Amino acid sequence: MIDSRYRPTGCGERLRQAQVVVVRRLTAAWVGYEERDAGHGRDDGWLEDKVYYRAMLRDYSLQPTEVPVHAPAFLPDARRTELKADIKRLLVERDAVLVAHYYVDGDIQDLADETGGCVADSLEMARFGRDHPASTLIVAGVRFMGETAKILSPEKRVFMPTLKAECSLDLGCPPEDFKAFCDANPDRTVVVYANTSVAVKALADWVVTSSVGLKIVEHLAGKGEKILWAPDKHLGHYIRAKTGADMLLWSGACVVHEEFKFKALTDIKRVYPDAGVLVHPESPAAVIDIADRVGSTSQIIQAAQELPNDTFIVATDRGIFHKLRKSAPGKRFIEAPTAGDGAMCRSCAHCPWMAMNELEALLATLENTDNEILIEPQIGARAMVPLQRMLAFP
Ligand code: 13P
Ligand code: SF4
Repeated sequence: MIDSRYRPTGCGERLRQAQVVVVRRLTAAWVGYEERDAGHGRDDGWLEDKVYYRAMLRDYSLQPTEVPVHAPAFLPDARRTELKADIKRLLVERDAVLVAHYYVDGDIQDLADETGGCVADSLEMARFGRDHPASTLIVAGVRFMGETAKILSPEKRVFMPTLKAECSLDLGCPPEDFKAFCDANPDRTVVVYANTSVAVKALADWVVTSSVGLKIVEHLAGKGEKILWAPDKHLGHYIRAKTGADMLLWSGACVVHEEFKFKALTDIKRVYPDAGVLVHPESPAAVIDIADRVGSTSQIIQAAQELPNDTFIVATDRGIFHKLRKSAPGKRFIEAPTAGDGAMCRSCAHCPWMAMNELEALLATLENTDNEILIEPQIGARAMVPLQRMLAFP
Protein backbone atom coordinates (compact mmCIF):
# COMPACT_ATOMS: atom_id res chain seq x y z
CA MET A 1 0.00 0.00 0.00
CA ILE A 2 1.31 3.44 -0.85
CA ASP A 3 0.87 6.06 1.80
CA SER A 4 -2.23 8.00 0.77
CA ARG A 5 -0.73 11.29 1.96
CA TYR A 6 1.68 11.13 -0.92
CA ARG A 7 -0.44 9.49 -3.57
CA PRO A 8 -0.57 11.61 -6.73
CA THR A 9 -3.91 12.47 -8.23
CA GLY A 10 -4.45 11.99 -11.94
CA CYS A 11 -1.13 10.22 -12.38
CA GLY A 12 -2.32 6.73 -13.16
CA GLU A 13 0.70 5.76 -15.22
CA ARG A 14 3.22 6.95 -12.64
CA LEU A 15 1.34 5.21 -9.92
CA ARG A 16 1.31 2.00 -11.93
CA GLN A 17 5.07 2.25 -12.55
CA ALA A 18 5.61 2.98 -8.91
CA GLN A 19 3.73 -0.07 -7.88
CA VAL A 20 5.88 -2.20 -10.16
CA VAL A 21 9.00 -0.87 -8.47
CA VAL A 22 7.50 -1.25 -5.04
CA VAL A 23 6.53 -4.83 -5.74
CA ARG A 24 10.08 -5.56 -6.86
CA ARG A 25 11.55 -4.13 -3.72
CA LEU A 26 8.91 -5.04 -1.26
CA THR A 27 9.78 -7.21 1.67
CA ALA A 28 7.15 -8.37 4.11
CA ALA A 29 7.56 -5.39 6.38
CA TRP A 30 7.90 -2.57 3.87
CA VAL A 31 5.38 -0.41 2.15
CA GLY A 32 5.24 3.03 0.59
CA TYR A 33 7.87 5.16 -1.05
CA GLU A 34 10.75 7.37 -0.31
CA GLU A 35 11.60 10.65 -2.04
CA ARG A 36 14.64 10.94 -4.15
CA ASP A 37 15.39 14.52 -3.40
CA ALA A 38 17.34 13.61 -0.35
CA GLY A 39 18.71 17.05 0.35
CA HIS A 40 15.45 18.91 0.48
CA GLY A 41 13.08 16.77 2.44
CA ARG A 42 9.69 15.95 1.06
CA ASP A 43 8.94 16.87 -2.49
CA ASP A 44 5.25 17.25 -3.11
CA GLY A 45 5.62 18.04 -6.77
CA TRP A 46 5.87 14.48 -8.05
CA LEU A 47 8.33 15.69 -10.69
CA GLU A 48 9.86 12.77 -12.41
CA ASP A 49 13.43 13.94 -12.00
CA LYS A 50 12.98 14.40 -8.29
CA VAL A 51 10.86 11.55 -7.19
CA TYR A 52 11.15 7.86 -7.44
CA TYR A 53 9.48 5.15 -5.54
CA ARG A 54 11.22 2.93 -3.17
CA ALA A 55 10.05 0.34 -0.74
CA MET A 56 9.78 2.01 2.60
CA LEU A 57 9.09 0.84 6.05
CA ARG A 58 5.74 0.85 7.66
CA ASP A 59 5.24 3.39 10.41
CA TYR A 60 6.98 2.16 13.54
CA SER A 61 5.66 4.91 15.83
CA LEU A 62 4.12 3.57 19.02
CA GLN A 63 0.37 3.49 19.54
CA PRO A 64 -0.92 5.40 22.59
CA THR A 65 -1.79 2.11 24.28
CA GLU A 66 1.85 1.05 24.06
CA VAL A 67 3.04 4.05 26.05
CA PRO A 68 2.85 3.67 29.82
CA VAL A 69 1.57 6.35 32.13
CA HIS A 70 3.89 6.91 35.04
CA ALA A 71 3.21 9.34 37.86
CA PRO A 72 6.21 9.69 40.18
CA ALA A 73 5.43 9.33 43.89
CA PHE A 74 5.16 12.50 45.94
CA LEU A 75 7.76 12.53 48.70
CA PRO A 76 7.84 14.94 51.66
CA ASP A 77 11.08 16.91 52.01
CA ALA A 78 12.22 14.94 55.07
CA ARG A 79 11.91 11.64 53.20
CA ARG A 80 13.77 12.99 50.19
CA THR A 81 16.61 14.18 52.42
CA GLU A 82 16.79 10.78 54.09
CA LEU A 83 16.79 8.93 50.76
CA LYS A 84 19.51 11.16 49.35
CA ALA A 85 21.73 10.59 52.37
CA ASP A 86 21.33 6.79 52.09
CA ILE A 87 22.06 6.88 48.38
CA LYS A 88 25.22 8.92 48.93
CA ARG A 89 26.45 6.46 51.53
CA LEU A 90 25.77 3.44 49.35
CA LEU A 91 27.41 4.95 46.30
CA VAL A 92 30.65 5.10 48.29
CA GLU A 93 30.23 1.62 49.79
CA ARG A 94 29.60 0.07 46.37
CA ASP A 95 32.40 1.96 44.60
CA ALA A 96 29.67 3.29 42.33
CA VAL A 97 29.22 6.49 40.35
CA LEU A 98 25.90 7.98 39.31
CA VAL A 99 25.47 8.89 35.63
CA ALA A 100 22.21 10.74 35.01
CA HIS A 101 20.40 12.22 32.03
CA TYR A 102 18.97 15.75 32.00
CA TYR A 103 15.42 14.38 31.81
CA VAL A 104 15.40 12.51 35.14
CA ASP A 105 14.15 13.71 38.50
CA GLY A 106 15.89 16.89 39.72
CA ASP A 107 16.94 15.28 43.02
CA ILE A 108 18.72 12.52 41.12
CA GLN A 109 20.44 15.09 38.91
CA ASP A 110 21.61 16.93 42.04
CA LEU A 111 22.85 13.71 43.59
CA ALA A 112 24.92 12.96 40.50
CA ASP A 113 26.42 16.45 40.60
CA GLU A 114 27.11 16.34 44.34
CA THR A 115 28.76 12.90 44.36
CA GLY A 116 31.24 13.30 41.51
CA GLY A 117 29.01 11.67 38.93
CA CYS A 118 27.61 13.43 35.89
CA VAL A 119 24.42 14.86 34.51
CA ALA A 120 24.69 14.97 30.76
CA ASP A 121 23.29 14.23 27.32
CA SER A 122 23.45 10.70 25.99
CA LEU A 123 26.85 11.23 24.33
CA GLU A 124 28.56 12.54 27.44
CA MET A 125 26.92 9.90 29.63
CA ALA A 126 28.54 7.26 27.41
CA ARG A 127 31.94 8.94 27.53
CA PHE A 128 31.83 9.60 31.26
CA GLY A 129 30.83 6.02 32.12
CA ARG A 130 33.55 4.62 29.92
CA ASP A 131 36.28 6.82 31.38
CA HIS A 132 35.37 6.81 35.08
CA PRO A 133 37.49 4.53 37.29
CA ALA A 134 34.59 3.31 39.50
CA SER A 135 33.89 -0.42 39.22
CA THR A 136 30.12 0.16 39.19
CA LEU A 137 27.99 2.54 37.16
CA ILE A 138 24.48 3.51 38.19
CA VAL A 139 22.75 4.88 35.12
CA ALA A 140 19.65 6.99 35.68
CA GLY A 141 17.99 7.32 32.32
CA VAL A 142 16.48 4.84 29.90
CA ARG A 143 17.59 1.35 29.06
CA PHE A 144 19.64 2.15 25.96
CA MET A 145 21.78 4.47 28.11
CA GLY A 146 22.50 1.67 30.59
CA GLU A 147 23.24 -0.69 27.73
CA THR A 148 25.57 1.78 26.07
CA ALA A 149 27.49 2.10 29.34
CA LYS A 150 27.79 -1.69 29.61
CA ILE A 151 28.82 -2.14 25.97
CA LEU A 152 31.62 0.40 26.44
CA SER A 153 32.72 -1.00 29.81
CA PRO A 154 32.02 -4.74 29.83
CA GLU A 155 34.27 -5.15 32.86
CA LYS A 156 32.12 -2.81 35.00
CA ARG A 157 28.83 -3.66 36.66
CA VAL A 158 26.05 -1.41 35.40
CA PHE A 159 22.75 -0.95 37.26
CA MET A 160 19.66 1.15 36.67
CA PRO A 161 16.92 2.26 39.08
CA THR A 162 14.54 0.27 36.88
CA LEU A 163 14.90 -1.92 33.82
CA LYS A 164 11.40 -0.94 32.71
CA ALA A 165 12.60 2.44 31.46
CA GLU A 166 12.33 1.93 27.71
CA CYS A 167 12.43 4.40 24.86
CA SER A 168 9.82 4.63 22.09
CA LEU A 169 12.53 4.85 19.44
CA ASP A 170 14.22 1.71 20.70
CA LEU A 171 10.88 -0.13 20.94
CA GLY A 172 9.99 1.05 17.45
CA CYS A 173 13.02 -0.57 15.86
CA PRO A 174 12.78 -4.36 16.23
CA PRO A 175 16.15 -5.93 15.35
CA GLU A 176 14.69 -8.56 12.98
CA ASP A 177 12.86 -5.97 10.87
CA PHE A 178 15.85 -3.70 10.97
CA LYS A 179 18.15 -6.48 9.78
CA ALA A 180 15.85 -7.11 6.80
CA PHE A 181 16.03 -3.38 6.00
CA CYS A 182 19.86 -3.46 6.13
CA ASP A 183 20.08 -6.68 4.10
CA ALA A 184 17.92 -5.16 1.37
CA ASN A 185 20.19 -2.10 1.15
CA PRO A 186 23.73 -3.49 1.28
CA ASP A 187 25.16 -0.49 -0.57
CA ARG A 188 24.35 1.88 2.28
CA THR A 189 26.33 2.83 5.36
CA VAL A 190 24.20 1.97 8.38
CA VAL A 191 23.95 4.86 10.86
CA VAL A 192 21.78 4.35 13.93
CA TYR A 193 20.77 6.72 16.66
CA ALA A 194 21.99 5.77 20.15
CA ASN A 195 18.31 5.29 21.16
CA THR A 196 18.36 1.67 19.98
CA SER A 197 18.90 -1.80 21.38
CA VAL A 198 22.27 -3.56 21.53
CA ALA A 199 21.13 -5.87 18.71
CA VAL A 200 20.39 -2.91 16.42
CA LYS A 201 23.69 -1.23 17.29
CA ALA A 202 25.45 -4.49 16.47
CA LEU A 203 24.11 -4.20 12.89
CA ALA A 204 25.40 -0.64 12.46
CA ASP A 205 28.51 0.91 10.97
CA TRP A 206 28.04 4.03 13.08
CA VAL A 207 26.12 4.96 16.20
CA VAL A 208 25.39 8.67 16.65
CA THR A 209 23.61 10.87 19.18
CA SER A 210 21.88 14.14 18.41
CA SER A 211 25.04 16.00 19.48
CA VAL A 212 27.14 14.55 16.68
CA GLY A 213 24.72 13.02 14.16
CA LEU A 214 24.82 15.98 11.81
CA LYS A 215 28.62 16.17 11.72
CA ILE A 216 29.08 12.43 11.25
CA VAL A 217 26.54 12.18 8.41
CA GLU A 218 28.11 15.25 6.78
CA HIS A 219 31.48 13.53 6.98
CA LEU A 220 30.11 10.30 5.46
CA ALA A 221 28.20 12.11 2.73
CA GLY A 222 31.40 14.01 1.91
CA LYS A 223 33.03 10.66 1.16
CA GLY A 224 30.14 9.82 -1.19
CA GLU A 225 28.52 7.32 1.13
CA LYS A 226 24.79 6.67 0.97
CA ILE A 227 23.16 6.33 4.37
CA LEU A 228 20.60 4.00 5.86
CA TRP A 229 19.28 5.81 8.93
CA ALA A 230 17.26 4.58 11.92
CA PRO A 231 15.13 4.93 13.89
CA ASP A 232 13.99 8.55 14.34
CA LYS A 233 12.40 9.90 11.17
CA HIS A 234 12.33 13.50 12.42
CA LEU A 235 16.01 13.57 13.31
CA GLY A 236 16.71 11.78 10.02
CA HIS A 237 14.75 14.36 8.03
CA TYR A 238 16.50 17.18 9.85
CA ILE A 239 19.98 15.77 9.17
CA ARG A 240 19.08 15.01 5.57
CA ALA A 241 17.80 18.54 4.99
CA LYS A 242 20.91 20.08 6.59
CA THR A 243 23.52 17.90 4.89
CA GLY A 244 21.93 16.99 1.56
CA ALA A 245 23.03 13.40 2.24
CA ASP A 246 21.31 10.54 0.46
CA MET A 247 19.51 8.99 3.43
CA LEU A 248 17.00 6.18 3.48
CA LEU A 249 14.97 6.61 6.65
CA TRP A 250 13.38 4.23 9.11
CA SER A 251 10.04 5.49 10.33
CA GLY A 252 10.15 5.70 14.12
CA ALA A 253 9.41 8.64 16.40
CA CYS A 254 9.82 9.80 19.97
CA VAL A 255 6.45 9.93 21.73
CA VAL A 256 7.51 13.01 23.67
CA HIS A 257 8.95 15.19 20.92
CA GLU A 258 6.41 14.22 18.31
CA GLU A 259 3.78 15.95 20.44
CA PHE A 260 5.22 19.42 19.93
CA LYS A 261 2.97 21.29 17.54
CA PHE A 262 3.78 24.08 15.12
CA LYS A 263 0.49 25.94 15.55
CA ALA A 264 0.47 25.87 19.33
CA LEU A 265 4.10 26.95 19.36
CA THR A 266 3.47 29.92 17.06
CA ASP A 267 0.49 30.87 19.26
CA ILE A 268 2.65 30.97 22.37
CA LYS A 269 5.38 32.78 20.48
CA ARG A 270 2.87 35.58 19.84
CA VAL A 271 2.43 35.90 23.61
CA TYR A 272 6.22 36.03 24.14
CA PRO A 273 7.48 37.63 20.91
CA ASP A 274 11.01 38.15 22.28
CA ALA A 275 11.46 34.59 23.49
CA GLY A 276 14.09 32.39 21.88
CA VAL A 277 12.84 29.01 20.69
CA LEU A 278 15.04 26.01 21.55
CA VAL A 279 14.15 22.69 19.93
CA HIS A 280 15.43 19.14 20.15
CA PRO A 281 15.75 17.62 16.66
CA GLU A 282 13.50 14.67 17.51
CA SER A 283 10.67 17.18 17.01
CA PRO A 284 8.63 17.47 13.79
CA ALA A 285 10.14 19.53 10.94
CA ALA A 286 7.60 22.36 11.22
CA VAL A 287 8.63 22.89 14.86
CA ILE A 288 12.33 22.67 14.03
CA ASP A 289 11.84 25.25 11.27
CA ILE A 290 10.85 27.98 13.73
CA ALA A 291 13.65 27.30 16.22
CA ASP A 292 16.36 29.81 17.05
CA ARG A 293 18.60 26.89 18.00
CA VAL A 294 18.20 23.18 17.26
CA GLY A 295 20.31 20.75 19.23
CA SER A 296 20.82 17.94 21.68
CA THR A 297 19.97 18.44 25.34
CA SER A 298 23.43 19.80 26.14
CA GLN A 299 23.34 22.06 23.08
CA ILE A 300 19.97 23.43 24.25
CA ILE A 301 21.46 24.23 27.67
CA GLN A 302 24.43 25.89 26.00
CA ALA A 303 22.13 27.94 23.74
CA ALA A 304 20.18 29.21 26.76
CA GLN A 305 23.45 30.50 28.22
CA GLU A 306 24.75 31.98 24.98
CA LEU A 307 21.73 33.59 23.35
CA PRO A 308 20.82 37.11 24.53
CA ASN A 309 17.10 36.36 25.11
CA ASP A 310 15.72 36.60 28.66
CA THR A 311 12.96 34.11 27.90
CA PHE A 312 13.00 30.79 26.08
CA ILE A 313 10.31 28.46 24.82
CA VAL A 314 11.79 24.98 25.04
CA ALA A 315 10.65 22.02 22.96
CA THR A 316 12.12 19.04 24.73
CA ASP A 317 11.38 16.94 27.83
CA ARG A 318 10.59 19.12 30.81
CA GLY A 319 13.15 17.33 32.98
CA ILE A 320 15.75 19.58 31.35
CA PHE A 321 14.27 22.66 33.08
CA HIS A 322 16.06 21.69 36.29
CA LYS A 323 19.46 22.14 34.68
CA LEU A 324 18.37 25.06 32.50
CA ARG A 325 17.35 27.09 35.55
CA LYS A 326 20.62 26.31 37.30
CA SER A 327 22.86 27.04 34.36
CA ALA A 328 21.08 30.20 33.17
CA PRO A 329 19.74 31.73 36.40
CA GLY A 330 17.59 34.79 35.91
CA LYS A 331 16.29 33.59 32.56
CA ARG A 332 12.76 32.38 32.09
CA PHE A 333 11.90 29.02 30.55
CA ILE A 334 8.52 28.12 29.13
CA GLU A 335 7.43 24.65 28.08
CA ALA A 336 6.56 24.40 24.42
CA PRO A 337 2.92 23.26 24.13
CA THR A 338 2.29 19.63 23.27
CA ALA A 339 -1.29 19.71 22.02
CA GLY A 340 -2.36 21.14 18.72
CA ASP A 341 -5.47 20.82 16.59
CA GLY A 342 -6.58 17.24 16.66
CA ALA A 343 -3.60 16.18 18.70
CA MET A 344 -3.78 14.10 21.80
CA CYS A 345 -1.22 14.71 24.49
CA ARG A 346 0.28 11.38 25.40
CA SER A 347 3.43 12.67 26.94
CA CYS A 348 2.89 16.25 28.08
CA ALA A 349 6.57 16.77 27.43
CA HIS A 350 7.76 14.31 29.99
CA CYS A 351 9.07 10.94 28.96
CA PRO A 352 7.15 8.33 30.98
CA TRP A 353 10.16 6.06 31.03
CA MET A 354 12.54 8.77 32.26
CA ALA A 355 9.97 9.48 34.99
CA MET A 356 10.45 5.94 36.33
CA ASN A 357 13.83 6.98 37.72
CA GLU A 358 12.78 7.78 41.27
CA LEU A 359 14.76 8.19 44.47
CA GLU A 360 13.23 5.12 46.14
CA ALA A 361 13.95 2.94 43.10
CA LEU A 362 17.52 4.21 43.02
CA LEU A 363 18.05 3.41 46.68
CA ALA A 364 16.54 -0.07 46.27
CA THR A 365 18.89 -0.78 43.37
CA LEU A 366 21.89 0.15 45.48
CA GLU A 367 20.68 -1.80 48.50
CA ASN A 368 19.79 -4.97 46.62
CA THR A 369 22.25 -4.69 43.72
CA ASP A 370 19.53 -5.66 41.30
CA ASN A 371 18.38 -4.22 37.96
CA GLU A 372 21.75 -5.04 36.49
CA ILE A 373 22.35 -4.60 32.77
CA LEU A 374 23.71 -7.82 31.31
CA ILE A 375 24.74 -8.14 27.69
CA GLU A 376 25.79 -11.20 25.76
CA PRO A 377 29.54 -10.56 25.25
CA GLN A 378 29.65 -11.38 21.53
CA ILE A 379 26.86 -9.01 20.58
CA GLY A 380 28.22 -6.38 22.99
CA ALA A 381 31.62 -6.57 21.29
CA ARG A 382 29.98 -6.07 17.89
CA ALA A 383 27.94 -3.11 19.16
CA MET A 384 31.05 -1.57 20.68
CA VAL A 385 32.64 -1.00 17.25
CA PRO A 386 30.19 1.66 15.93
CA LEU A 387 29.94 3.23 19.38
CA GLN A 388 33.69 3.63 19.67
CA ARG A 389 33.77 5.03 16.14
CA MET A 390 31.39 7.77 17.32
CA LEU A 391 33.38 8.50 20.48
CA ALA A 392 36.61 8.74 18.47
CA PHE A 393 35.07 11.08 15.90
CA PRO A 394 36.84 14.44 16.13
P1 13P B 1 20.30 13.75 23.99
O1 13P B 1 21.36 12.91 23.36
O2 13P B 1 20.13 15.08 23.33
O3 13P B 1 20.50 13.85 25.46
O4 13P B 1 18.89 13.03 23.72
C1 13P B 1 18.53 11.81 24.26
C2 13P B 1 17.09 11.62 24.19
O5 13P B 1 16.60 10.56 24.48
C3 13P B 1 16.26 12.72 23.73
O6 13P B 1 14.92 12.38 23.79
FE1 SF4 C 1 13.17 7.95 24.05
FE2 SF4 C 1 11.75 10.13 23.60
FE3 SF4 C 1 12.05 9.23 26.08
FE4 SF4 C 1 14.12 10.35 24.75
S1 SF4 C 1 12.25 11.35 25.40
S2 SF4 C 1 14.17 8.50 25.98
S3 SF4 C 1 13.71 9.62 22.68
S4 SF4 C 1 10.99 8.20 24.42
